[in-house]
Amino acid sequence: MENVKNEEKVLLEVNDLRVSFFTPAGEVKAVGGISYNINYGEVMGIVGESGSGKSVEAYSIMGLLQSPGKVVGGTITFEGEDVLSYNKKQLQDFRGNRVSMIFQNPMTCLNPVYTIGDQLIEAVRVHHKIPKNQAWAKAIEMLELVGINNPDKRMKQFPHEFSGGMRQRVMIAMGLICDPKLLIADEPTTALDVTIQAQILELMKEIQKKTGMAIIFITHNLGVVAEICDKVAVMYAGHIVEKGLVDDIFYQPKHPYTIGLLESMPRIDADEYERLIPISGTPVDMLNPPAGCPFGPRCSHCMKLCLRETPPLFEVGDGHYSACWLLAKEEAKEGAVNE
Ligand SMILES: Nc1ncnc2c1ncn2[C@@H]1O[C@H](COP(=O)(O)OP(=O)(O)O)[C@@H](O)[C@H]1O
Ligand SMILES: [Mg+2]
Repeated sequence: MENVKNEEKVLLEVNDLRVSFFTPAGEVKAVGGISYNINYGEVMGIVGESGSGKSVEAYSIMGLLQSPGKVVGGTITFEGEDVLSYNKKQLQDFRGNRVSMIFQNPMTCLNPVYTIGDQLIEAVRVHHKIPKNQAWAKAIEMLELVGINNPDKRMKQFPHEFSGGMRQRVMIAMGLICDPKLLIADEPTTALDVTIQAQILELMKEIQKKTGMAIIFITHNLGVVAEICDKVAVMYAGHIVEKGLVDDIFYQPKHPYTIGLLESMPRIDADEYERLIPISGTPVDMLNPPAGCPFGPRCSHCMKLCLRETPPLFEVGDGHYSACWLLAKEEAKEGAVNE
């Protein structure tokens, strides 16, 4: 599992990706035109509250989007190849050998009637035509990598014989078994209690260092991002409202939504009785999103312009972008008003 860490070289490029669900009630624009790059070996966090489009975005990359969902615009390029034009066989190869995804709830992905060993070996053999004893050895190696003791014994056990944290480790092992260049982890710790969450994060960090793979880490918890990510995209209602290096997002946040997320983040050093500041207002009705900035109706800085025109991403620092009219230079503001 040797992936070369190459900070300069782009592994994945998502450009103006748009995904809609065509429901009886109308078109839901779940992802409304998002763009970002990930280099080889880089760890990117995608953060946003429930319903902001994080999973839909990930499924689109994996080619796992289900009807009535459809990619309606933009491109996804992986190692220079157009992922959206892959046929079924190419997509299988892509998913099996270059990218893998781990999901929030391991119980929905592990089959209760097969042993962990059978499932790991199946995962190896689907993608690599190797003899069963080699697949067994690979599975053992993976269980060791994710910190499961007595792997020989554990291979013969069933999912219900594993705790939640251990099952999530098995899922990570399964995700890593094909040596992916990119791992998409969709809220991999959300279903776990806080102590186990921290252990799994630590584990993922270690594995990332060992393997040099790139990771997209999806979470609604900005605290998790600080632990593991190089850079971050903050999503709101299907849009990236801010993106930058992890330090930009934590120490120089520019978007009122990012600032709100930071303020509502539980702090390890916080006084037990310190109240969190929730972001007031309700999430966007995705069938009838507001005109202008999607966060406008909940934003304490909202101006008339915000309710009329969607702000573009303004570059506010080197590689740091934020979509807020507060950041517009005067001329840009006037330009939009006069349009
Ligand atoms: N099967 C579906 N049918 C209709 N709309 C959907 C479906 N799945 C997702 N959506 C829409 O896509 C939005 C984003 O969903 P999702 O990516 O799962 O959010 P997140 O992962 O950020 O919590 C949801 O708010 C919803 O409006
Ligand atoms: Mg999700």
